[in-house]
Amino acid sequence: MTKNDPWRIGVAGLGTVGAGLLNLIAERPGFSPVGREVVVTGVSARSRSRPRPYDIAGLPWFDDPVALAASPDNDIFVELIGGSDGPAKVAVETALKAGKPVVTANKALIAEHGAELAALAEASGAPLLFEAAVMGGTPAVKMLREAMVGDEVEAVAGILNGTCNYILTEMEATGRPFAEVLAEAQRLGYAEADPTMDVGGFDAAHKITILAALAFGCAPTYAAAEVEGIAAIEPIDIRLAKDLGYRIKLVASAVKSAEGVQVTVHPALAPLAHPLAQAGGALNALFIQGRTIGRIFIQGPGAGAGPTAAAVAADIADVMTGASRPVFQLPAGRLKPFAPVNAKSQLGRAYIRLMVRDEPGVIAAVSETLAEAKVSIDSFLQKPVEDAGVVPIVLTTHAAPEEVILEAVRRMQGLAVMIEPPRMIRIARI
Ligand SMILES: NC(=O)c1ccc[n+]([C@@H]2O[C@H](COP(=O)([O-])OP(=O)(O)OC[C@H]3O[C@@H](n4cnc5c(N)ncnc54)[C@H](OP(=O)(O)O)[C@@H]3O)[C@@H](O)[C@H]2O)c1
Repeated sequence: MTKNDPWRIGVAGLGTVGAGLLNLIAERPGFSPVGREVVVTGVSARSRSRPRPYDIAGLPWFDDPVALAASPDNDIFVELIGGSDGPAKVAVETALKAGKPVVTANKALIAEHGAELAALAEASGAPLLFEAAVMGGTPAVKMLREAMVGDEVEAVAGILNGTCNYILTEMEATGRPFAEVLAEAQRLGYAEADPTMDVGGFDAAHKITILAALAFGCAPTYAAAEVEGIAAIEPIDIRLAKDLGYRIKLVASAVKSAEGVQVTVHPALAPLAHPLAQAGGALNALFIQGRTIGRIFIQGPGAGAGPTAAAVAADIADVMTGASRPVFQLPAGRLKPFAPVNAKSQLGRAYIRLMVRDEPGVIAAVSETLAEAKVSIDSFLQKPVEDAGVVPIVLTTHAAPEEVILEAVRRMQGLAVMIEPPRMIRIARI
C-alpha cells in the first residue's frame, strides 16, 4: 500500500449497523481521516437477495464472512454480525491471526472472549477496536481506554440499555404495566422480537463487563456479573419510589475495592435530581469516577444505525491513524484475573414495599422484624387502604450488608399479615 492508496474495508453484517456504515461511507466521500479515502471492497451477510436500505449490487459479495476476513482484498475487517460465538468469532479470529485490524460493534463477543482475542490481536500486532459495542454513538470506550489512563478509575456506573430505559420511562409516564409497554416497544421497533437480552439485563451486563476491563485492567469476565432485569418492576413501585423522591432505572455498575471488583446490573432507585434519573427514553448515560479527576458524566444515544455507524467509523479512523494501544487498559498478558467481590456482603440501602392486611399492630410487627434482623429504617410511608383491605407500606433502609437486608425481607415474608411477598429494590450507590 502506498501512502495515497485508499484504505479497503470488508464489512460482514449488513443489518442496522452494517447498512448504517455503508450509508455513512457513501454519503461522506470526504471521510478520509488521514487524507486517504475509504472504500468497501467486500461485504457479507446471510442473504444476498434481501432488500436493504443500501444498494450492494456493485460490491464484491462473500457468502462466508470468514472468507471475507481472510481476503487479501481488504485492509480492515469490520464485524457487524453479532453473537458471542459462531461466524462472528471465527471471522474475527481469522482476521486477527492474519494480522488484519478488526473493528467490531459486538459486545457479546468482546465481553465473553475479549481476553483471548486481545492476546491474539497483540501477538499479531493488529488493532482490535470496539467503540460501538458500548453506548453506541457515545464514546465510552475511548474515554476509558485513552482519556482516563492517566488516572485511577474507582467506579463506573450508568444506564447502558436504551430498551430498558425506554420501557421504564414509558411505564412512569403512562402508568402501564411492563408487559404492555414491552409489547408496544416491540411494535415500534425499540425492542427485539426476543427481548430477553435487553430486559433480562444481559446486554447491559456485556457492556459493563467491557467497561470494567477497560477501567480496571482486568480480563473481561462476563460470568462474574450479577444480573437482574426489569421484568418484575411494577407500576406501583415506580409510583411509590417517586413519592419518596426516586426514579427506578436499570443501573449497570463496576466498582473497585480492596477485595476486587464488583460488577452488577439491577433495577435501582436513583434520586430524582440525579443525572442518571434525568436520562429518559432510549438515552444511555455513564458516570466515571476517577481518583484524582473526580466524576465525569456522559450521556447520548446508545443505539441506532447512524450513531452506531459513526462509532464504527471512528474506530476505522483510529486504525488508519495508526492506533496501537493495548486492547484493554493493559497488554493482554498483564491483564489481572478478575477478582469478584461477594455482593451480599456489600453495604447498600434498599426500598422495600409490603402489601399487608389492614389490621392493628401491622406496623409494630414490621418494625420489630426489621429491628430483629438489624436493619434500621430511613423513611416509612403508609399509603391509603386499597381494594380488599390491602395497605401498601413502603420503606427505605439505612445502609446494611445486602445479606442482612435480604434476611429481613425473608422474615417479613413470614408475617401472617403479609398478603404478597415483599418487593425489595436496591437504592443506587451513585
Ligand atoms: N443495532 C444497534 O443499534 C447496535 C448498537 C450497538 C451495537 N450493536 C451491535 O452491532 C452488531 C450488529 O447489530 P445489528 O443491529 O446491525 O444486527 P442485525 O440488524 O441483526 O444485522 C446482523 C447482520 O448480520 C448478518 N449475518 C447474520 N448471520 C450471518 C452469517 N452467518 N454470515 C454472514 N452474515 C450474517 C445478517 O444477515 P442478513 O441481513 O442477510 O440476515 C445481518 O445483515 C451486533 O453485535 C450488535 O450487538 C448494534
